[in-house]
Amino acid sequence: MEQELNSLQALAGESLQSVSSNEQLEEFRIKFLGRKGEFTSIMKGLGKVPKDDKPRLGQMANAIKKEIESLYSEKRAALMATSTGAGSDSTIDLTLPGRKPETGKLHPVTQIMNEVCSIFESLGFSVAEGPDVEHDHYNFEALNIPAHHPARDMHDTFYVSDSILLRTHTSPMQARIMETQQPPLRVIAPGKVYRCDSDITHTPMFHQVEGFLVDKDVSFADLKGVLTIFTQKMFKKDLDLRFRPSFFPFTEPSAEVDIACVMCGGSGCRVCKRTGWLEILGAGMIDPEVFKMVGYDPEVYSGFAFGLGIERIAMLKYGIDDIRLYYENDLRFLSQF
Ligand code: FA5
Repeated sequence: MEQELNSLQALAGESLQSVSSNEQLEEFRIKFLGRKGEFTSIMKGLGKVPKDDKPRLGQMANAIKKEIESLYSEKRAALMATSTGAGSDSTIDLTLPGRKPETGKLHPVTQIMNEVCSIFESLGFSVAEGPDVEHDHYNFEALNIPAHHPARDMHDTFYVSDSILLRTHTSPMQARIMETQQPPLRVIAPGKVYRCDSDITHTPMFHQVEGFLVDKDVSFADLKGVLTIFTQKMFKKDLDLRFRPSFFPFTEPSAEVDIACVMCGGSGCRVCKRTGWLEILGAGMIDPEVFKMVGYDPEVYSGFAFGLGIERIAMLKYGIDDIRLYYENDLRFLSQF
């Protein structure tokens, strides 16, 4: 029996060398390790060997079986590793086109936000960020909007408590920066803002970029120049700008700024409601009252400020006529950008 086991071991080793496919390997398994295979038939003779030899032969048989099993496993792993080779019985078809992994993209609003910021950075503005949950003081009081001022009604504010709220615009960053830094200042403050408002051009959360510049002898012409360069760079076209008189308690004079409709070039279409113009931002010269509250002398310094709605810019840039699409998380919509 000892001799039979030794020859089985040698034969198994030899046979395995010529195995080159999964089918051959299965034949090998059945022949050597199967229930009716060679090993089982030798083991049937164990009952007939002398009692004293049984433990030794039993151990030997176990060791040989283990060795054949481990040779079998190694071969199986080797065949799997090379199963992409020609002529193998692999299920992988190398002629099929590859599967492209899905890659994520930045949200279109984030893309526009980044583009807007980099245009202003190229004009020498530095970027500052502030809190979404804001004090009433910075959102209103420091911007010349005291309690009970009618302008508060324009903001549809979400209050957290009597004195804490979700900021309704990025303008509080004017007060936050000016109270800690001295002119000259050239700052943009991008971020989320919140208003209790929802329709095809309004969402309860949206993004603004505040921009302001404070120095000696700053004029409305400087504001006009900066915004003209911005729109040219953003829309890659020489678009006309229109300044409409408006009112913000923290700027005087104030304006709402329209651009010639990017869809029709000013001739009138559905997007611009046949007017030829699209509103993109509010702006103006910083009110002397705001300067006084942060300790700047309005006789010495002047400055301009503006607040851009990012979703609106994104709508114009991509020709989207319902702002809410940006926040429905429909990948068929989002992956187009
Ligand atoms: C303001 O928020 C002023 N803080 C802007 C400003 C800054 C004026 C500095 C003067 C100096 P207004 O409420 O108009 O202004 O909003 C500015 C822009 O935000 C709008 O032109 C519009 O593009 C966008 N916007 C306003 N409300 C919404 C909304 N609910 N959803 C999406 N965009 C909005």
